[in-house]
Amino acid sequence: MRVTKISLNGFRNLEPAVIEPCDGVNIIYGNNAQGKTNLIEAIWLFTGSRSFRGAKDSDYLPFKKNFAGIELCFFGQQRDQTAKIAFHAGNKKILLNEIQQKSVSGLKGNFNAVVFSPDHLSLVKDGPDERRNFLDTAIGQLMPQYSRYISAYNKLLLQRNSTLKDAQYHSSLIDMIDIWDEQLVKYGTAIASARLRYINLLSPLCEEIYSGISKGSEKMTMSYCAGWFDKPIEEEIPREKIAESMALALKNARKNDLVQGSTSVGIHRDDINIMIDSVSLRAYGSQGQQRSCVLALKLAECGILYNTTGEHPVILLDDVMSELDNSRRDYLLNHLKGRQVFITCCDKGYFKDLQAGKTFYMEAGVISEDTE
Ligand SMILES: Nc1ncnc2c1ncn2[C@@H]1O[C@H](COP(=O)(O)OP(=O)(O)O)[C@@H](O)[C@H]1O
Ligand SMILES: [Mg+2]
Repeated sequence: MRVTKISLNGFRNLEPAVIEPCDGVNIIYGNNAQGKTNLIEAIWLFTGSRSFRGAKDSDYLPFKKNFAGIELCFFGQQRDQTAKIAFHAGNKKILLNEIQQKSVSGLKGNFNAVVFSPDHLSLVKDGPDERRNFLDTAIGQLMPQYSRYISAYNKLLLQRNSTLKDAQYHSSLIDMIDIWDEQLVKYGTAIASARLRYINLLSPLCEEIYSGISKGSEKMTMSYCAGWFDKPIEEEIPREKIAESMALALKNARKNDLVQGSTSVGIHRDDINIMIDSVSLRAYGSQGQQRSCVLALKLAECGILYNTTGEHPVILLDDVMSELDNSRRDYLLNHLKGRQVFITCCDKGYFKDLQAGKTFYMEAGVISEDTE
């Protein structure tokens, strides 16, 4: 997978420009707040996933303007493809190879990328939302229908929660909850089984990569923790068993859920427990171990995309190099050979050892290619 051309026609602070990156390493350097991350975000949007910065569509419009447009030409699935995203005063137009898509998520599964950002430390430090989001974004690129399961589930969850609240005053609504539960189990089972399948691919890769980073001195393992199952899950389980456990858990939680007015059990509450040498990373891991684990998770995500699609994803490294010490940086760079990489940094001198194909300078949203 590689980007062959990016046409910017208004996106945040980026001035209109056309750039043609190389197949190898592309460095985008410049001072802070010039637009480097904005460019990475623009490329990322073509994966069909939400912004890794949690932005809304309206955030992409340049200040005081009501149009934002980007076009990406890329080589993927053995052919040249183009995709366009345009936001115009509350409307958007998404085209993939000139065919109109209903939403940005219609682009999923066509252009694949993995983004590394300093914020990703929250993946191991913060609450379970971050880890579920990691899984859901990664699975979404492999399985476009997965995002529809997530939206359907979230909608049902809101309906169940509102029925739970109203049922306190209208007991006749209790029967409705049976209907929501049945649907939640249906979508919840599809989501949980996709997550377990993904973790089954992720876990051995992470173990191998982490062992490489720690030079074999430590072992990274993980399990899926679900309130609807009686113990941490370390392997795939049959769908019928998932459905049965989820249905039972919802039934058992109902009395309490009616009091709380919310749903206390289900895939929206699940988590991944990451352990180093059998000790919880989140509770006891050192900063170094946490950074290594994030690197392992992200590189494993790249590996899974390659193993399943036969193509390396485009790698977007937003300002992460300065965060890593020499040995982790070397490990990462050694694993990027033969892939297209976009690296943002303040000082390109930092990468003088790297055989960079092209370097681009960013200043106040104006991007220009170095020619020397
Ligand atoms: N919608 C927008 N319209 C215009 N400028 C924006 C918009 N969103 C962000 N910016 C500007 O972009 C700059 C930040 O760009 P960013 O890519 O994060 O910088 P960096 O080069 O440090 O990665 C800031 O100056 C910010 O004000
Ligand atoms: Mg930045």
